[in-house]
Amino acid sequence: MKLIDGKKTSQEIKKEIATEVAKMIDNEDRSPHLVAILVGDDPASQTYVKNKEKSCSEVGIVSSIYNYPADVTEKELLESIDFINKDDGVDGLIVQLPLPDHISAKKIIESIDPKKDVDGFHPLNVGKMALGLPSFLPATPFGILQLLERYKIETEGKKCVVLGRSHIVGSPMSILLSRKAYPGNCTVTVCHSRTENLKEITKEADILIVAMGQAQMVKADMVKKGAVVIDVGIHRIPSDKTKSGFRLVGDVDFDEVATKASFITPVPGGVGPMTIVSLLKNTLLSAQNKSR
Ligand code: GUN
Repeated sequence: MKLIDGKKTSQEIKKEIATEVAKMIDNEDRSPHLVAILVGDDPASQTYVKNKEKSCSEVGIVSSIYNYPADVTEKELLESIDFINKDDGVDGLIVQLPLPDHISAKKIIESIDPKKDVDGFHPLNVGKMALGLPSFLPATPFGILQLLERYKIETEGKKCVVLGRSHIVGSPMSILLSRKAYPGNCTVTVCHSRTENLKEITKEADILIVAMGQAQMVKADMVKKGAVVIDVGIHRIPSDKTKSGFRLVGDVDFDEVATKASFITPVPGGVGPMTIVSLLKNTLLSAQNKSR
């Protein structure tokens, strides 16, 4: 079994991005600029946005966070997005999800200028992605593609099973791996909460991508020997072996599945760090297109 080291890979990519940003500054261009909108005080969302801010500063990307209280109106948010869309000094705009119930995420996402939609969530970018046209790819699937590529994992003609059909991970992942490209050209099956005989399907997978949001749900008897296993989940579970009383685990029971897999991502240090780096890459790409 080989470990797919997302932490190391993300650090390599960060160095590449930093070099590109430095070149832009040398050419008397400005640094790329990412704006993140954060609504309310959900601790997980706050942590994600803070990590994005920290990673931006590591590579020389300027970031700004617009904080709004949970009771902000949809109209106020739409006005703010309109203002940022029109600001030539901003290359990327993300709105951290989830949003409070009184705000339509669909309306908000559709109001972002597709040319600044570095999350790749706007319907125009999703459509382009499905057609194989250049577009911003959603960060987590983009990060997984980069891991498959950098670890030279063969994908052509392989059976790939994606567990989960979210718009953020499962659905775009299934589209990307069935595209006529590398990594891609897979025969993809998408499974979800209503799938029957899940184990029969996962056991067929050469590449198994797990994004179901259930701690340690994938066990060794669900995995074919020699499969490549990519774990998107992250959960805090009680542990009597750590000082904090908690430990982080994924959607995959790592200790069990590692004995059968040819390649596997750990949690933490697998897909997680690749997600942020992909957002940085999209922001750089956006800035470079603009300056061309
Ligand atoms: N919430 C969970 N994942 C994401 C993401 O990739 N982008 C945004 N904006 N919100 C999220």
